[in-house]
Amino acid sequence: MNHNSTTSRATSFNIHKTSDHLNATHGDRLRIDLKTALEESRAATLDLVAPLSETILCHQAHPNFSPVGWHWGHIGFTEGLWLLEKMLGQPPLFPHYRSLFAADGLPKHRRRALPPAPDIRLYVDTIRQQVLEALEQLDPMALSQQARLWWWILHHEAQHAETIQMVLALQQALPPLEYIPRTHSCQGNSIHIPQGNYEQGSHDPFALDNEQPRHLVPLSDFSIDQHPVSQGDYQAFIDAGGYETAHWWSTQGWQWLQAAGVTQPCYQLSAHPEFPVCGLSGYEAEAYACFRGQRLPTETEWEIAAQSGQLQGTGQVWEWTATWFAPYPGFQSFPYPGYSETYFDQQHRVLRGGSWASRNLVKRPSFRNWYPPETREVFAGLRLCHS
Ligand code: AVJ
Ligand code: FE
Repeated sequence: MNHNSTTSRATSFNIHKTSDHLNATHGDRLRIDLKTALEESRAATLDLVAPLSETILCHQAHPNFSPVGWHWGHIGFTEGLWLLEKMLGQPPLFPHYRSLFAADGLPKHRRRALPPAPDIRLYVDTIRQQVLEALEQLDPMALSQQARLWWWILHHEAQHAETIQMVLALQQALPPLEYIPRTHSCQGNSIHIPQGNYEQGSHDPFALDNEQPRHLVPLSDFSIDQHPVSQGDYQAFIDAGGYETAHWWSTQGWQWLQAAGVTQPCYQLSAHPEFPVCGLSGYEAEAYACFRGQRLPTETEWEIAAQSGQLQGTGQVWEWTATWFAPYPGFQSFPYPGYSETYFDQQHRVLRGGSWASRNLVKRPSFRNWYPPETREVFAGLRLCHS
């Protein structure tokens, strides 16, 4: 063994010591952060579901969306599956609920025969109790290594909580004033972003698989509105015969419109023309942009504009982009291919921003949501862009 290799072994040993220490410190910090985040998340979820009647919990408001009570049970099932079963090797709790609450279990129309609300509550609470106990007992190093899965579980609950609000809005089980954006949308100002190479995506420990890896993208210069399109602006499109004029629609969009027979956004609030328009399909968003002589931003344009800190009204409605949901170069599935990869199918478009019903956890420039362009039940509008 020569002198050099001895030195390098000693050095790498010291580095290890230091990073072990950092991981342990990180793990202890993380334990506190996760506990707070899990408790806040669950309190917010319970605020939504606890007051609901059995009828509302079991109602399927739309063929593409499961009943609210199913989402509730599925939040608990997913937490138990990933944290207790897969991560800690525990046997399943309430195994008879697996086929009902697993994402790949029953078709959506068979998710209406749900256990009574107190049973769902007991199921979800029992799993959460075990999860909190595990969180207390886990070695800080182990916890530090599992950080990504814990954050994924928090994102999972946040996204289902938003879907719960969509389903409630669809069945008019939310007071009307609750399913509208909360800030005004002023017309006019647009932001110019110069041509350049920009970084898109995220390396943050809580970033989801589809946000990674962060990478460089070339971008031509473009302008994007500071505010999303308001309901008043959108009304002008309706008044100009937007829904009867093929010219403004893409071929696919016009075909969809003929079949869907839609004449207005899914969530209408005429008393508030200054709020962002909410409840558009990707096709309506596209047609409106064309009517204004503009276009939807690509998801990259949206993200770079958001990074500049100049976008306003973001986080009030999701915003449709022109981009099909696809992997970034070097993408790796986490925690399972069915989370993102299954949807890289040229049938789903990316939405950015987050809505009034989204939790803060998802409101970041790199976050990607996705739905087929014909979906109008998301709290989604658009922001205009031009080259
Ligand atoms: C990203 C919101 C489209 O709800 O279908 C929840 C998120 N994935 N459970 C969905 C999701 C698995 C997903 N969206
Ligand atoms: Fe899910």
